Amino acid sequence: MVYTRAYKMRLTMHFLMRRISILERRVSLVRQLLGSFVLIAMGLTAPAIVAQKVELSVDVSKGGAKIDRNIFGQFAEHLGHGVYEGIWVGPDSTIPNTRGIRNDVVAALKALKVPNVRWPGGCFADEYHWRKGIGPQRTVTLNPNWGGVIEPNTFGTHEFMDFLDQIGAQAYVSVNVGSGTPQEAAEWLEYMTTAQPTTLAKERASNGHPAPYNVALLGIGNESWDCGGNMTPDYYLSQLKIYSRFVRNFNPAQQDKQQMLKIAVGPGGTEPRWTDWTETIMKAYQHHQWSWDMNGLSMHNYTVGHWPPSFASVGFGETEYAQILKFTLDMDDLIAKHSAIMDKYDPQKKVALVVDEWGGWYAPLPGSNPGFLVQQNSLRDAILAALNLNIFARHADRVRMANIAQMINVLQAMIMTDKEKMVLTPTYHVFKMYVPFQDATFVPVVFDAGTYTHGDVSLPRVDAIAAKDKTGKLWLEVTNIDPNQPTEIDINVPGITPKSAAGETLIAPKVDSVNTFEAPHTILPKPVSAKAQAGKLTLKLEPKSVTVVAIEQ
Ligand code: AHR
Repeated sequence: MVYTRAYKMRLTMHFLMRRISILERRVSLVRQLLGSFVLIAMGLTAPAIVAQKVELSVDVSKGGAKIDRNIFGQFAEHLGHGVYEGIWVGPDSTIPNTRGIRNDVVAALKALKVPNVRWPGGCFADEYHWRKGIGPQRTVTLNPNWGGVIEPNTFGTHEFMDFLDQIGAQAYVSVNVGSGTPQEAAEWLEYMTTAQPTTLAKERASNGHPAPYNVALLGIGNESWDCGGNMTPDYYLSQLKIYSRFVRNFNPAQQDKQQMLKIAVGPGGTEPRWTDWTETIMKAYQHHQWSWDMNGLSMHNYTVGHWPPSFASVGFGETEYAQILKFTLDMDDLIAKHSAIMDKYDPQKKVALVVDEWGGWYAPLPGSNPGFLVQQNSLRDAILAALNLNIFARHADRVRMANIAQMINVLQAMIMTDKEKMVLTPTYHVFKMYVPFQDATFVPVVFDAGTYTHGDVSLPRVDAIAAKDKTGKLWLEVTNIDPNQPTEIDINVPGITPKSAAGETLIAPKVDSVNTFEAPHTILPKPVSAKAQAGKLTLKLEPKSVTVVAIEQ
């Protein structure tokens, strides 16, 4: 065998590097041994981890905006096993179901008090034709966006509405602007909502639902700047006006108090083109006439790091933990930026900013269909969810709705299923712990968050929000981002002597701990309480934890 000069050089370098690395390992071992000798010689053990102290004051004298329960909304797209298998198994399945909808999933979702579900997509919505999903004979089509698989259309309008009834949520229906027509969307709404005996209403009745459905929220297109049709802001605006004018809700119960809210497509990232988009839509809204209207502007923002998604969803360490949480905190700036534009044209904040796609988006799980967006859900996701919910709460005057992507088996899911098995993710537990914040009134909290640093990433060590629910009960959420140090929070409520605080805390052994079908209870909320002393409460937080307590006054 003849070695080239370059190859020989590479070989020499390789051996050199190996020797250096062996040498380094030896030096480090000697250092460790020396360290231990010194500790033993001094009669000492390794230093105990000391809890960091944080003073936190809850200002009950100042009330903020209502934290609209719709910010705890969900998103169920025809994508991978999000709908089929995740929700719909069909009435003949051996998996226990009610009219084809999984009983275990329904029971789990009921506990979350899900306010609304966005459906049928996503990118899927702009290729969805509703007539294919009604009646006894369903048209079998394709799902070109998500793996090119068969779309049986067995889960259509009636099944979606049945699912919502079973879990107690409201409908957020996205109509097809990309490849549909205003007439198709208008007829869908007539089919769903009219109480008059029109041909479409009779067809609805013959398909099993004589009473009109309630459609609380209408999405006019999805990401129309991209998968929804690559439209310019001006072109989309012209479509928005037409759809807003003609796609009517006829339900008699929704003509006065419960009017359907119309959500326009909004920005999707940090580049200047997104501020242009918000400017165009909101400027037009400022001068809008009676003939068109909108009640919300959508915003999509995933925690991805960079495209295509390449962060692992499991099997990562502290570096990726810190990096992802750093990325997720960008949500705050993005909301602030678009809220400022909206304030210019809508100072009364009539139009809500609707963050209807958010969450962590990581590399597909090895072995899964990349078009199905399957990923694991770890403790990092629980912290990510809490941080985002807190950001939404702090912007509650403008952010009145949000939908995590997605509900089941897709991206940052609440629930994962595999045939008859089901597991609740850490994100599910966070959503459950936050139920008391639904429709509660934001109460300001003041604290010095301190800093947690790992490598070149610095983050606030803790995050917190507080709110008063309708019964007057005070709730506090505190996230300890630091994965290594516990935190001791001294809670003051000026003007009040708090008696006690109790609630739940979500902890896990590792930053990438997950619940699996085999070990579903690795991450479960545990009871926690605070000690009252000298007019204040002291709450001990484990490293990397999410805690919600009710403060008794
Ligand atoms: O949630 C997955 C996809 O992400 C949605 O279909 C689309 O709207 C977004 O790009």
